[in-house]
Amino acid sequence: MGIVVRDLVKRYGDKTIIDRISFEIGEGELVSLLGPSGCGKTTTLRCIAGLETPEEGFIAIDGTVVFDSSAGIMIEPYHRDIGMVFQSYAIWPHLTVFENVAFPLRIRRDRDVDKRVMRALEMVGLAAFRDRSSQQLSGGQQQRVAVARAIVHAPAVLLFDEPLSNLDAKLRDQTRAEIRKLQRELNVSTVYVTHDQAEALSLSDRILVMRDGAIRQQGTPVQVYGTPVDTFVADVVGPANFLPLTDAAQLRSVGPVPSGPCVAMIRPDRIVIGSGGDNQLSGTVRQRLYLGGHYEYLVAVGPALLRVLSSVTVAEGETMTLSFAAADCIILAQEETPTWA
Ligand SMILES: Nc1ncnc2c1ncn2[C@@H]1O[C@H](COP(=O)(O)OP(=O)(O)OP(=O)(O)O)[C@@H](O)[C@H]1O
Ligand SMILES: [Mg+2]
Repeated sequence: MGIVVRDLVKRYGDKTIIDRISFEIGEGELVSLLGPSGCGKTTTLRCIAGLETPEEGFIAIDGTVVFDSSAGIMIEPYHRDIGMVFQSYAIWPHLTVFENVAFPLRIRRDRDVDKRVMRALEMVGLAAFRDRSSQQLSGGQQQRVAVARAIVHAPAVLLFDEPLSNLDAKLRDQTRAEIRKLQRELNVSTVYVTHDQAEALSLSDRILVMRDGAIRQQGTPVQVYGTPVDTFVADVVGPANFLPLTDAAQLRSVGPVPSGPCVAMIRPDRIVIGSGGDNQLSGTVRQRLYLGGHYEYLVAVGPALLRVLSSVTVAEGETMTLSFAAADCIILAQEETPTWA
C-alpha cells in the first residue's frame, strides 16, 4: 500500500516551500528524494511524518489517510505508522541503548518489549550493547541505535533524513549497504532523503529529483542518470559534462537537435582519450588528479572545461584528443541560467 502524496503545498509565511507535489511509493519500495540544499526534501519528509502541517493536500500511509486538507484530517505523528531516522540521530543520552530503542513501544503501550527490542538490536548488530549508556557509543553505533528505534515497532513506512552524513566515508559505505539489506529484509516502504547522488543511485528503486519545491523528474536510477530531462537533473544525479553547441555540425550522428541553443551532455567516464569515437575533440590538460587506478582530468576544449576519467597517463599542459560515441551523448536545451555554470 505504501505512501500516497497528492497536491501537497507547504508555505512558510508568503514563501511556498513545497509547490503542489504528488507522488506514490509502492509497498516495499525505496524511493530517494534527491536535490540541492533548500529544495524542500526535509520539509516533504516532515509533512509525511506529521511534524509539519501542510497548507493543502492529501497524504495516506499504508492505506490510512493521515492528512487531508479538504476533509480537515491531521493525524498526530505518534499515531502514524512510521519509523524515522534523522541526520542528528536524536537519541537520548540519559537513557541506555535498550531504553532508547524501547521508547516507541513504551509510548504505544505495546507488549513484548524485551523480545522486540532485542530483535531490533540484533538486526543492527548491537545486542551486546543493550545496557550501555548511549553516551558511550561512537557515531556509527548511535546511528544503529536510531535505526533500531525506527524499526522496533514494525512500522509500515520508514523515513530517513540524510542518515549517513555525519559518518566518515568508509562507515558511510558500510552503513549504506546495511540500510539497503535491512530495508529489503523488512520489505518496508521507505523514503530516503539525500543530496548525495551516489547514495541515491546505489540505494534506490526510484529517485525523485527535486528543485525549488517541485519534482523535476522521477524514475529508476538508470533512467534519471541515463536520460535526464534537463541540465539540472543531469547535474544533480551525477558528474556531467556540458558542451555548448555553438557548432552543432561538430557533433556527428546524435540525431535530432532541438531548435535554439543547446548543450551536449556526456558523462566523464564515457569520454575516451584518443581517437576512434563518432566524435572527436582536441583539448589541453589543465589539471590531473590521481584517484587510484585512474585519473580525473580537467581538459579545456575551446571555452568549455570537460571532466574525463581515464587510466591513460597524459601530463598537465599537454594536448590530448578526446572521443565519444554518439550513443553516450544527450542533447539538452540550454537553460537560460545554466545550473552547472
Ligand atoms: N521553519 C521554517 N521556517 C521558515 N522557512 C523554513 C523553515 N523550515 C525550512 N524552511 C525553508 O524551506 C526551504 C526548504 O527547506 P528544507 O529543509 O526542506 O530543505 P532541504 O531540501 O532538506 O535542504 P538540505 O539539503 O539543506 O537539508 C528552505 O529554503 C528553508 O530555508
Ligand atoms: Mg534537509
